[in-house]
Amino acid sequence: MNLAFGASNYADRIDAVFWGITAVSVVLLIGITAAMVWFVWRYHRSRRPRPEHVPDSMGLELAWTIIPTILVMGMFWFGWKVFADLRKKTPGAMVVNVTGSQWQWRYMYVDEKGQRRFEVAPDEEEKKGETAELVLPLNKPVQLNLASTDVLHSFYVPAFRLKEDTVPGRETYLAFTPTMLGVFPVFCAEYCGGTGTRGKLDGHWSMLSAVRVVTEEEFRIYYESNGAVRPWRGQKTAALEGAAAMPRGWETMSRQGCFRCHTDNGVETKDGPTLKGIYGRERRVVRAGIVATVRVDEEYLRRAIEHPEVETSEVYFRKVGPMPRVELSESDVTDIIRYLRELK
Ligand code: CUA
Repeated sequence: MNLAFGASNYADRIDAVFWGITAVSVVLLIGITAAMVWFVWRYHRSRRPRPEHVPDSMGLELAWTIIPTILVMGMFWFGWKVFADLRKKTPGAMVVNVTGSQWQWRYMYVDEKGQRRFEVAPDEEEKKGETAELVLPLNKPVQLNLASTDVLHSFYVPAFRLKEDTVPGRETYLAFTPTMLGVFPVFCAEYCGGTGTRGKLDGHWSMLSAVRVVTEEEFRIYYESNGAVRPWRGQKTAALEGAAAMPRGWETMSRQGCFRCHTDNGVETKDGPTLKGIYGRERRVVRAGIVATVRVDEEYLRRAIEHPEVETSEVYFRKVGPMPRVELSESDVTDIIRYLRELK
């Protein structure tokens, strides 16, 4: 393993500051230690039995004032420059809300207006480690808005060389660009308690997570499917393969954000039923407070799209209520229905 790799746009510069300060410290350490040792030898009692007057040396005093001042101010300037850049937000960066709580990290993607898009839920694979992975696209600026629900935590990604506290009652942030594909561990770097009695997720030490940096294409699929499809595991969704060749109905639904709640690959989200294979099926709906069984045909789909408040799937009636109505043209609705008919 290469411990020196850095996976964000700041990593190299932060490393440069780190090694620069380390180099100055080494020079000072060696210089001071050498002077001390030399003085001990040179002014030992056996060599200088009688004290003598040592006159002031202006040159020497100036040197040991000016040189360390330059060194220390250099370290400050170097560090300050990089720190100031770290605080810069990129307009239009993708925003993810990161919430620390005792003892886990949660991630929620939000749109440009700060509205919830979807929250990351661990899949079966990730559940083994009981962590949700934050997925980010390569070479795209991101902004993590950090918050805490209880005590101080600190979001720390060593591979990115980035760390920021989460503070109850206040929002902090990290703005950066991932520059390397891979999975990078996330730690909590602020001792936040824990008793050791609640199984695995029992304290600061178990507040672990990861950032997965994927290609732009993989990320698009993941994002469009609201986190349901993880292409890097070989998961596929019929509709998302080659969006260019997709039916118009799919494109309309994608544009209208339908896939925030529905999927086209059989995965049920907690916000809406999957649309795969829906056509021709019987389903139970709540209509004017009464449960009824209907067959999904064109008539039904049209009603469900144009007047979603009239009938709601029984399961989702209790969970989330009726679907919000979306303004669509007649041809949009026809496209969507045609697409759903074919979505076997
Ligand atoms: Cu959270 Cu330590």
